[in-house]
Amino acid sequence: MSHKILFVCLGNICRSPMAEYVLRHRAAEHGVSHRIQTDSAGTSGWHDGENMHEGTRKTLARHGISHAGFTSSKVKSADFDAFDYIIAMDDNNLADLEKLFGRHPEKIFKLTDLIPESGYKLVPDPWYTGDFEETFRLVDAGSLALLKKLSLT
Ligand code: 4NP
Repeated sequence: MSHKILFVCLGNICRSPMAEYVLRHRAAEHGVSHRIQTDSAGTSGWHDGENMHEGTRKTLARHGISHAGFTSSKVKSADFDAFDYIIAMDDNNLADLEKLFGRHPEKIFKLTDLIPESGYKLVPDPWYTGDFEETFRLVDAGSLALLKKLSLT
């Protein structure tokens, strides 16, 4: 069985693309690529059709992770049935998802819920903070926690 994971942020150019590509990379490192399908989307649609933010691309590259083949897109109603987990970056993303799909805490939750030891309640948005490395650290820890939750590590 393959687990289908959708990461969601506001713009789908910074945080959720980073999470998508980091999870894919970590899954490959653990030899479980065939067990994970991952994608990302934004609640706003403001950057539909664009590539990732340059800061996201540079951060992934710095960590030896591919950023090839990305196109920004908006969350759509079919996503609820298409994915097993829909993982938000902050409370606004979560509220927007719950407006669309209802409250499903086992399926729709924040990435930071998987890493309570981090002390973070949200993944900071580098569009505003400029700190792509802080976002990377959390996204990476969250990805590894997700693989563990799915018994893939
Ligand atoms: P993201 O960051 O939600 O992590 O992709 C943002 C990207 C763009 C904007 C806001 C946040 N924006 O206002 O266009």
